Amino acid sequence: MQVVRTGIVGMGIGRNNGRSIEANPRGEVTALCDILPERMKEFAAELASPVKMYEDYKEMCQDPDIDAVMVGTPNQWHVPIALEAIRNGKHVLVTKPLADSEETARVLVEEAEDAGVINMMSLSTRFSDPVMYLDGLCQEGFFGDLYYAHARALRRSRIPDWSLGFIEEGGGAFRDMGVHVLDACWSLLSKPKPVSVLGVAGAKFGPRGQGYWDFRQPEPDFYTRYASDDYGGGFIVFENGVGMQVESFWACHQGIVGETQIELFGTEAGAKLRPLTLYRTVNNAPQDITVDPPKKVEGFSEVADHFIACILDGVPCEAPLRDGLEVQRMMEALLRSAQIGKEVRLD
Ligand SMILES: NC(=O)c1ccc[n+]([C@@H]2O[C@H](COP(=O)([O-])OP(=O)(O)OC[C@H]3O[C@@H](n4cnc5c(N)ncnc54)[C@H](O)[C@@H]3O)[C@@H](O)[C@H]2O)c1
Repeated sequence: MQVVRTGIVGMGIGRNNGRSIEANPRGEVTALCDILPERMKEFAAELASPVKMYEDYKEMCQDPDIDAVMVGTPNQWHVPIALEAIRNGKHVLVTKPLADSEETARVLVEEAEDAGVINMMSLSTRFSDPVMYLDGLCQEGFFGDLYYAHARALRRSRIPDWSLGFIEEGGGAFRDMGVHVLDACWSLLSKPKPVSVLGVAGAKFGPRGQGYWDFRQPEPDFYTRYASDDYGGGFIVFENGVGMQVESFWACHQGIVGETQIELFGTEAGAKLRPLTLYRTVNNAPQDITVDPPKKVEGFSEVADHFIACILDGVPCEAPLRDGLEVQRMMEALLRSAQIGKEVRLD
């Protein structure tokens, strides 16, 4: 049986992706890479077979025994590592967000497409069970015309405090969490072309040493390096006249019921992601349907299975890096709009 031999870079979220690749009978984690050897050793101990370990991603990308590379490092490293992998003929699976800027994301997508390798975003929210369930209904036309949507990712006090990569330039709440709901909602709307974005963003908690993960108190030499947003929100208008309101908060003074929420507004029906509910009118009376999605797993196994099927079976990729680029364009436009205090046009 043909197997996709995969190298995983970054022992944070890379481990979730690695576990799902290993769980597929046609997937194998062959090598690990991290600048912290202890993190690699810890994960290697979990795996069924011995793996190679690299501290330098360039060396790992040259390994002829690897077919694909999963990039799970902080945002600022996604493009250099994925480019190195592509230049060595490897297929790539990249965690969200695609990059730390639109320019670098575009360079990566163009090279990946020219190289002809399978290039896919690892999107645990888009590939999660409830979102995939709603996607099935969208494809069937259950909602009629979808004309409006609201996507939100909200935390009370959860600025990541274990890596500077999250809070330095290129990180931030919107690129961390907003990107998930923006991507999932945009894909439910059938990926319309964005034309205009108006946003606000800022850092109201992080630079004051507040709002960190589960109310922990970081040292000043950590939080004084804060150079990103800890909230962002805005409005996106698409070419087909559809509108999307989107928000992301790492910290806020609000009661939080579930971290992510998506609401869809259609001419025939609407939906809410959590708890998964459908709304419509039957015989002039409201009908609300609560849905228990078939499985309650994170989307990493679907991501791994699809990535492997794209490589081995030639299945068309449903989440190419180009999707990541389009989402990055919207995200960066929102953050730029917040900076300049004006609408940003994307058409
Ligand atoms: N649900 C999801 O899809 C999801 C969830 C969390 C994080 N993420 C994404 O994953 C990325 C990493 O986040 P995390 O929470 O795993 O962070 P993390 O800090 O826990 O892990 C990142 C790892 O990358 C390693 N690393 C950093 N630079 C490196 C380099 N140049 N070469 C090799 N290794 C390097 C670090 O040592 C660390 O072990 C971010 O882009 C984040 O947006 C995705």
